Amino acid sequence: MAIDASVLVLNGPNLNMLGVREPHIYGSLTLDDLESSCQERAEQLGLSIDFRQSNHEGELVSWIQQARTEHDGIVINAGAYTHTSVAIMDALILSELPVIEVHLSNIFKREAFRHHSYISPVAKGMICGFGPHGYLLALEALAQILDRD
Ligand code: DQA
Repeated sequence: MAIDASVLVLNGPNLNMLGVREPHIYGSLTLDDLESSCQERAEQLGLSIDFRQSNHEGELVSWIQQARTEHDGIVINAGAYTHTSVAIMDALILSELPVIEVHLSNIFKREAFRHHSYISPVAKGMICGFGPHGYLLALEALAQILDRD
């Protein structure tokens, strides 16, 4: 598959601490490692990716707004904002882009407050529980969706 599309891969709060943060839940790979494997898979799929992380809700909202005109799709792990942010949900709606939600951990095996997501109702689909591989699956799903369009 070679489709020549541009994807924003967004990471929310505390994901800059991957590798250090609760490794029994999130594994030992760093965010840089994750970015490298996403870049490699994206290249094979014919996608170019813009891989970003922020601890700030407003910055994530602004990047999603910009994606409306700059990108063809969004992969998002909004971290804890998944469970709280109407603002990120609204931005994803106004982007009018296909969105794939990703979580490293299986959020349904964890505390009840992680079971609700503001992202899921506006996403094409959600992948959780497969660690970093989930990001690669999300890129594959998006490549297929963009290829169909
Ligand atoms: C997470 C799950 C969230 O509940 C948590 O707040 C995170 C990471 C995940 O990737 O498993 O920061 O999105």
